[in-house]
Amino acid sequence: MNRFAAASRILGVGDTPKAPNRRCRRYPEETCRVSKPRPVAVIVLAAGEGTRMKSRIPKVLHTLCGRSMLGHVLAAAGELDPQRVVVVTGHGRDEVSAEAVRYSPGASVVMQDRLAGTGHAVRMVTEALGVMQGTVVVAYGDMPLLRAQTLHALVRAHAAAGNAVTVLTARVGDPSGYGRIIRDERGALAEIVEEADATPEQRAIDEINSGCYAFDGALLADAVKRVATGNAQGQEYLTDVVAIMRGDGHPAGTVLAADPAEIQGVNDRVQLAQVRRALNSRLLDAWMRAGVTITDPAATWIDVDVTVAQDAEILPGTHLQGRTAIGPGARIGPDCLLRDTVVAQDATVLFSVCESAEIGIGADVGPFARLRPGARIGPGAHIGSYVELKNATVGEGSKVPHLTYVGDADIGEHSNIGAATVFVNYDGEAKHHTTVGDHVRIGSDTMLVAPVQVGDGAYTAAGSVITEDVPSGALGVARSRQHNSEGWVERRHPGSPSAAAARASRAAGPGSAASPAPNQDKPVPDQDKEAHGQ
Ligand code: UD1
Ligand code: CA
Repeated sequence: MNRFAAASRILGVGDTPKAPNRRCRRYPEETCRVSKPRPVAVIVLAAGEGTRMKSRIPKVLHTLCGRSMLGHVLAAAGELDPQRVVVVTGHGRDEVSAEAVRYSPGASVVMQDRLAGTGHAVRMVTEALGVMQGTVVVAYGDMPLLRAQTLHALVRAHAAAGNAVTVLTARVGDPSGYGRIIRDERGALAEIVEEADATPEQRAIDEINSGCYAFDGALLADAVKRVATGNAQGQEYLTDVVAIMRGDGHPAGTVLAADPAEIQGVNDRVQLAQVRRALNSRLLDAWMRAGVTITDPAATWIDVDVTVAQDAEILPGTHLQGRTAIGPGARIGPDCLLRDTVVAQDATVLFSVCESAEIGIGADVGPFARLRPGARIGPGAHIGSYVELKNATVGEGSKVPHLTYVGDADIGEHSNIGAATVFVNYDGEAKHHTTVGDHVRIGSDTMLVAPVQVGDGAYTAAGSVITEDVPSGALGVARSRQHNSEGWVERRHPGSPSAAAARASRAAGPGSAASPAPNQDKPVPDQDKEAHGQ
């Protein structure tokens, strides 16, 4: 009897789909060069309360495309290969700290116990960790669209110009709510003015502060100590560091974000939905450019850690989540939810839900199948409608076509499981295993009561409750024999339409199409007539 040994057996060695650019863990359009200079630190500000989210979950832990907002920012920050990652937390500090360490295992978490402003947040970092010599990048935990390549451009420009501070800016149609970029008569960055503190002329400026910066670490540590609170909000503004550094005679510059959408912050769930859709389209565009067909991008959702191989086809209503990997030429959807599932080359999945499952080369699943964790479908196997599998392997070319539950089982190759079969794996306390061999025919409505084994080439009779092993080549029959009580309907329901039909049929004579002969001579169940749902 053949068994599945490893995932490679199902997928075929070397078939695991890979993202086109293997160095990049985000998505394929990004070119993730590790370019010098390497920042000494990236500081991510995430202490804000996020009141407008109206949530018990800290704002930066809300998710899009399979990651928290903080996770996206930390993933982009990680691409800079900084010597250290620092996350400033306040609200929901325990959960935020845990998430920070999940994405940046060596991250330092600095607590900011009162929200006294972005300048205060950075001062807490320099006071806790000391002066950091080199380039320090500051970003926000609620800017999930920020790209690693944009951070790279910021750091490169900062180093090339020898600036004390370089601000990532954007030109936007509506600058309201943002700090405005104020330039001197020579066009150099002079200061940043917050909207609440701006004059009407300044408010008309359409170049805004993204809130993301590259600083000289030593100059930053000195300048944040000198930030005053004499502003409309009575807070320590990090933005004031620009004017302080310029006042000290240091050069300051800007980098304009190519795509202003990247710097969009999230303050409420409407913005979260906008940013989620934007990130999803960015991911889908990248996959389409990498050779994947997506018929309706507006109705397709692909998480950031999913990989999809060339010539795969993703049909509407499909959600690919977690670490799902789709092989070349595979066809998924319409209307599928796949989580942490590996689909090999040329397999198809239709109207199905799959979690932590593996689907082999050329296999087909659905419609209306549910693959639960540990379901492993062999090459060319068929899983049909209303079939649920859990912790079960189905061998090459085997079929589980209809209305069946397979739990805790190994099914060999080229076997057929008849309709409405149940692998009875649970005795009320413990789960037990069933093994079905190669070229087996399980009759429709068989109950395979585990632990039990059905040998290679064996059959079971339809309607059997199999509690004992069936040896190779045997027919297992485990059901009561049929008894027909002749004339019962006319005795018990005289005058009924059924009784009338029975009488008419009898009048037509035995053996007619409407009146099969009574079968008192029929022998014990005949294996040649056992029904198998195909
Ligand atoms: C800030 C900038 C503004 C910029 C805008 C871009 C300042 C003074 N202003 O304004 O110029 O255009 O971002 O979105 O910096 N945070 C802390 N601790 C604090 C305060 C804030 O960690 O004490 C964090 C928040 O969690 C948030 C980020 O810093 O992630 C920005 O804070 P927020 O209050 O939203 O700043 P804005 O007023 O939007
Ligand atoms: Ca904000």
